[in-house]
Amino acid sequence: MTQKTYDIAVLGLGVMGRNLSLNFRDRGFSVLASDPLEAPVAASRSALEPNVRLTATPEEAIPLLSKPRRILMMVKAGAPTDKLIDRLAEVLEPGDILIDGGNTHYRDTEARQKRLSEKGIRFIGLGVSGGETGARHGPALMAGGDAEAIASVATLFSAIAAKTERGESCYAAFGPGGAGHFVKMAHNGIEYALMQVFAEIYLILAGPGGMKPAEIAKLLKSWNNGDTTSYLLEVASKVLAAVDRETGQPLVEIIRDRAAHKGTGQWTVEAGLDLGIAVPGIAAAFGARVLSSTRCDKSMCVSESVPTHVDVQTLAKDIHSALPLVMLTAYAQGLALIAEASHINGWNTDLATAARTWRAGCIIRSALLEPIAESLHSGADDLMTTSFALQLAALGESALRRLVAVAISNAVPIPVLASSITYLDGLGARQVGASLIQGQRDFFGAHTFERNDRAGTFRHDWQNEK
Ligand code: 6PG
Repeated sequence: MTQKTYDIAVLGLGVMGRNLSLNFRDRGFSVLASDPLEAPVAASRSALEPNVRLTATPEEAIPLLSKPRRILMMVKAGAPTDKLIDRLAEVLEPGDILIDGGNTHYRDTEARQKRLSEKGIRFIGLGVSGGETGARHGPALMAGGDAEAIASVATLFSAIAAKTERGESCYAAFGPGGAGHFVKMAHNGIEYALMQVFAEIYLILAGPGGMKPAEIAKLLKSWNNGDTTSYLLEVASKVLAAVDRETGQPLVEIIRDRAAHKGTGQWTVEAGLDLGIAVPGIAAAFGARVLSSTRCDKSMCVSESVPTHVDVQTLAKDIHSALPLVMLTAYAQGLALIAEASHINGWNTDLATAARTWRAGCIIRSALLEPIAESLHSGADDLMTTSFALQLAALGESALRRLVAVAISNAVPIPVLASSITYLDGLGARQVGASLIQGQRDFFGAHTFERNDRAGTFRHDWQNEK
């Protein structure tokens, strides 16, 4: 009798690994699951068996897989991933496909691809977004790696990925090397910016707007349709509505006012620096998290301001009008980063596909991604120059200016909203002051400058200036 073989093995039985195993099973695949440690295997029995077959160790799962063997690792990024790879490398054979579904730095993915290719093992970096619910019912999935290996996992991942309302799968491949993990990293950078935008909106409405968290929650909920529909808006509204069970106070006023991070936002900012792409909104959001946990609340050098009188209806209307434009600048920065990484690394990553993949299942999903994908589809590689961006700017620009002015004059920290308007001005203003920068560079460093009236590079005789 021939032994039954399985379609895929999921290694790592944290909540993400467990939920992905069940998701594969629900889509009709035969699934093996295990964990590098004994305890999670034991703890997962009741949740997974009999639908998913558990093996005591990862090594025992490998010979039970059909070929080419497909193994999805869902362990912590960094050392735990390397440790598991080292164990598996002992039992894997040429042609086998190892997939890393963690939030791994794309350069680590590329180093592992190189290392494993020496043994003929194919390695895919897979960005997985959507948290536990996404993993169970449909995540957004972003793959990168060897084209042939990607082709042999496409059916599996397309099946378990989130589907848009029109039934399109939110799984896509973005090119060779670390392209998939890069797209996921940029997704997370955008996630940081959007989360901070909702935090800033809360501060403005609660401070100068004088609204209570429950009222803000209702307002945000009422915006969660049309152009401003977005998962993070929904999450923010639910968090603002929550009440602390012990004290009966709004939970958001009980949660300590400092934000943590696990690195992907920082990597996005670092990638911007490496590639020479401005991601000011993402950098501002990352900076805000860092500042929230390093600042010394008591010794402020800025005085407490008394809120100026604002009409809360007008304020809310301005926020609502500016929101699509602000969100667009966050998406634009992440996509610009992907475009440059693709160009430098020869990935041929399609920006419209990135926007399409983010339409459902992932944390940054929103109604804006459909028109963004459409406008990028026509070949544009810079979202900010598309007619859709111009349309949103026309609708939101003056509201955003008023909003930023209210916040700044009331000492409300709004790094991302402020950076959003200065990003737009930096892109669109007739003059940006770079002529004076070039003059200064030439003055002290002989760095030369270009002229408006003729081609070439020039120097000025600064010594003979009075
Ligand atoms: C997702 C999320 C998920 C997680 C990140 C960000 O797409 O499902 O991005 O990957 O939220 O780890 O976490 P930090 O805020 O801790 O950096």
